[in-house]
Amino acid sequence: MPDIESLLKETRVFKPGKAFAKQANWSKKNVRELRKLGAKDPEKFWARMAKKNVTWFKPWKKTLDWKPPFAKWFVGAKTNVSYNCLDRHLEGKNAWRSNKAAIIWEGEPGDQRVLTYSQLHREVCKFANVLKGLGVTKGDRVALYMPMVPELAIAMLACTRIGAPHSIVFGGFSSESLRDRINDAGAKLVVTADGGYRRGEPLPLKPAVDEAITGCKSVENVVVVRRCENDVKWKKGRDHWWHDLMAEASADCPAAKLDSEHPLFILYTSGTTGKPKGILHTTGGYLTHVTTTAKAVFDLKDEDVYWCTADIGWITGHSYVVYGILANGATTLMYEGGPTTPGPDRFWDIIERHRVSIFYTAPTAIRTFIRLGDEHPQGHDLSSLRLLGSVGEPINPEAWIWYHEVIGGKRCPIVDTWWQTETGGIMITPLPGAVDTKPGSATLPFPGIAAEVVDEKAKKVKAPDGGFLALTKPWPGMLRGIWGDPKRYEETYWSKFGKFYFAGDGAHRDKDGNFWIMGRIDDVMNVSGHRIGTMEVESALVSHKDVAEAAVVGRPDEITGTAVVAFVSPRAGVEAGDPLVKELREHVAGEIGAFAKPAEIRFTDALPKTRSGKIMRRLLRDIASGNETVGDTTTLEDLSVLAKLRDEG
Ligand code: PRX
Repeated sequence: MPDIESLLKETRVFKPGKAFAKQANWSKKNVRELRKLGAKDPEKFWARMAKKNVTWFKPWKKTLDWKPPFAKWFVGAKTNVSYNCLDRHLEGKNAWRSNKAAIIWEGEPGDQRVLTYSQLHREVCKFANVLKGLGVTKGDRVALYMPMVPELAIAMLACTRIGAPHSIVFGGFSSESLRDRINDAGAKLVVTADGGYRRGEPLPLKPAVDEAITGCKSVENVVVVRRCENDVKWKKGRDHWWHDLMAEASADCPAAKLDSEHPLFILYTSGTTGKPKGILHTTGGYLTHVTTTAKAVFDLKDEDVYWCTADIGWITGHSYVVYGILANGATTLMYEGGPTTPGPDRFWDIIERHRVSIFYTAPTAIRTFIRLGDEHPQGHDLSSLRLLGSVGEPINPEAWIWYHEVIGGKRCPIVDTWWQTETGGIMITPLPGAVDTKPGSATLPFPGIAAEVVDEKAKKVKAPDGGFLALTKPWPGMLRGIWGDPKRYEETYWSKFGKFYFAGDGAHRDKDGNFWIMGRIDDVMNVSGHRIGTMEVESALVSHKDVAEAAVVGRPDEITGTAVVAFVSPRAGVEAGDPLVKELREHVAGEIGAFAKPAEIRFTDALPKTRSGKIMRRLLRDIASGNETVGDTTTLEDLSVLAKLRDEG
């Protein structure tokens, strides 16, 4: 019996379009060679990428120093992330980029700002001097608790310029969560704003900082960006307005020559229990990884307007709103607010007005748009789009097809990118000019990345059996540890398989070697002796014409061991009643098998999601079993969803 069974059969294949393939940064031939090199000698592959895509002040002595599970990449080399994202686009043959848009920003109320590379460089240098003026030196941690405004990117790049690792805390977190994170990192300075716009209202941020740092000994100064002009309390001597400090700051600040392994940032992810984990990333390897993957996977060109909808408070925003994109000298679009403000077509309106060519978003957003109806995207000219991306969760095949047809006009390749906060950059992904895609599959590991599906004993399983997704060789963007807790790092990621990194996801491979991610291992259900992942039953439900989104969990059952309970969001205008329940149960039986039929189906307008948009199945399990919710619900985006689900149950 395999560890996880794979049930869903998806056979549609989409080849790269001829015109796209012809102009792709990475051609089929190129990819074939790079894959060969990456498999034979990953260090050589990454060294080649590092030379080609990153500017170094001093070369490395050794590509990789691997003392499992601790890696050092490009040992002895010196570089600077801010230099790679800014200065090198103002020099030599790239100097023409000086007046090219680095950031196109749009606020939720509709205000806009464009920062060219030379303007961004100037602002970053000035803020780096502000940091120095407030006593921040190399190695000091800086916490950023900010809305999606250009000052966030400026602050990040300023930190990297002087070698002060940043710790970005998503602006939706509470003051307690902020306090825990500031204390864990021992941050010396906090950058925040009076507020930011979200769903039509200014959302205050400064009060949470005031509250949080009453319990933080390490914080000496707070810098506040004026965004919403809402009232703020002020502590003289500690609090400073961004614009006051910037008015005085010099724009001359050479980038520090930092060691390749110098800490770049800490980003907290919630663990399954208690204390959040401070995932540590360092300089040279991370920069090589994100710059190379951004260029290859998104096919970034100088002419592109690239838009990733993730908040910079998540890893996707770090790697593919800011660092990987600016390091390539591309134009990145940043949007401050909610996807449905002022109307359900805000995203499509932005794409039309800014002529966005590359669009990277999450399955949860895609399914929300499916539910809202096709008329919203169809009311806009989306012909500027040439490539689409997906990240954060498995994308159900039918959502993939909708994305391809309704948003991509059947002409845009889709890159379904699998990776994690811990991996730093994209790991399993199509290369849009070279790899055939299958809806629901992230396809193949990026060249130089080694991934396998293994069983409990770390043995490779045979296709198409499911198992645990493991990364079998170190890679440059990998986390270097958990801040202040090397033991937890070893236990969490390396104790299961010893020599392999355990990703926590279930997956299987098909006969062509493609990877299909089946969801988190913790969510696997054991139904009548079959161990099945949540993704496949959910995909079966979403493939029904009336369903926009579904989440499936197991509830203890005397007869079958576990009964499948499905929470289903119907599409707009669908009547959700007993006839649909019956139809959906039969539909799942037909798609997968009778044993996977949900014992119970509950209809709901909204599913509980984390602030980064992932469905929280743990909470749904409690509801399905009639248990009290235990554990942390602070990462839940909208608490009222939970109460509503309980009432309806
Ligand atoms: O379960 C996988 C899912 O998101 C997890 C990582 O979450 P986080 O650290 O928040 O980073 C999200 C952005 C990179 C993974 O362990 N996941 C991410 N991308 C995919 C995915 N699951 C399936 N397909 C994907 N493309």
